[in-house]
Amino acid sequence: MIVAPKIRGFICTTAHPEGCAANVRSQIEYVKSRGPLARPPRKVLVIGASTGYGLASRIVPAFGGGAATVGVFFEKAGTATKTGSAGWYNSVAFEQAAAEADLYARSFNGDAFSHEMKEKVVSAIVEDLGQVDCIVYSLASPRRTDPETGEIYKSVLKPIGAPYSQKNLNTDTGEVNSVSIEPASDDEIAHTVKVMGGEDWEFWIDALSAAGALAEGFSTVAYSYIGPDLTYPIYTNGTIGRAKEHLERSAARINDYFGPGSAHVSVNKALVTQASSAIPVVPLYISLLYKAMKEKDLHEGCIEQIQRLFGDHLASASGPSLDERGRIRIDDWEMRDDIQAAVANAWEAVSTENLADISDFAGYKAEFLRLFGFGIDGVDYAAETNPDLALPSGG
Ligand code: NAI
Repeated sequence: MIVAPKIRGFICTTAHPEGCAANVRSQIEYVKSRGPLARPPRKVLVIGASTGYGLASRIVPAFGGGAATVGVFFEKAGTATKTGSAGWYNSVAFEQAAAEADLYARSFNGDAFSHEMKEKVVSAIVEDLGQVDCIVYSLASPRRTDPETGEIYKSVLKPIGAPYSQKNLNTDTGEVNSVSIEPASDDEIAHTVKVMGGEDWEFWIDALSAAGALAEGFSTVAYSYIGPDLTYPIYTNGTIGRAKEHLERSAARINDYFGPGSAHVSVNKALVTQASSAIPVVPLYISLLYKAMKEKDLHEGCIEQIQRLFGDHLASASGPSLDERGRIRIDDWEMRDDIQAAVANAWEAVSTENLADISDFAGYKAEFLRLFGFGIDGVDYAAETNPDLALPSGG
């Protein structure tokens, strides 16, 4: 079939198999161009491995360190008449490239929050690899079914304590308007912490530990975000921020049990991904941020960020450098004073009329389409493509 983008709000319901494969190949090429990691992990489990930060976290240790990788994700396979999700095609392309490079790669498609998935993945690790020495937790999900009670928790993106009004961007129309969001209830806060906090991360580490599948001196990392004052009410001080505080407490608990330095929280840069495009205010902030960072030649995507995470921290000769709260900060360039000052000035001035001039909305839109494999040089979008691709490892 011929595959074109079909955008519904902040999601594209189609994905282009060749475009996604080209994305994955270019990330692999980038990692290879950076040369080998100094102290690479050898056997890596990535939970949330199919898109965004998780996909990059699979590519960097594999192609920068020759690591065997196990990936877990929740994606949709294509059929002869319907495209699958981008993460499915990314994972097919990753596994093909891994096979060509003679690297072990196995993927599991399904609900990472469930006991069944943990059992399946952990026993595959024990059987195939014995143990893992690095676990990346990069899930972003709107809901979670509690594996014990069957209760469904839904996360919300809301402020806490007071309503929040701020400029906002309608990414469909390019209109800069404003948004007002009522504060979350206590129940909504608790639900968001259940979905996006660290409980499930700890469950994964427990399951691996119980099976003897954690290598001596293993390390694990999960991702967080802080960002500027203007998004504090909706992010850092909002419901998702509460979940990220819980994630930090989970890291502390893992460190208490397994020893300091076992668990890290890495604070990453705001980037266009399927998860971030759903957060109010953030797409406008990202459009202004990209402009400021590109002007200073500081812009990075997921792969550059995660290359820096492994290269300068997790797999560096000297180990990670941490901030005063014990976190790795690869958002350091985003948070530079000059960048934040440029964004704050542009934030005051931005309107529908000047959006194209003072922001990188064009870059935002192009990157959004690229997440789904569209707008990539060298891909023939007028040609027939087969959407029914199988994961080489079975999935
Ligand atoms: P994403 O939407 O690109 O990736 C989410 C991944 O989770 C995908 O692999 C998806 O298949 C998987 N997933 C979702 N639900 C699942 C389930 N029930 N079972 C198995 N897999 C499931 O998201 P992104 O942006 O890469 O986010 C990853 C982490 O990075 C999140 O913790 C997010 O808060 C954090 N982060 C994101 C930033 C951003 O600007 N995008 C900035 C800083 C941190």
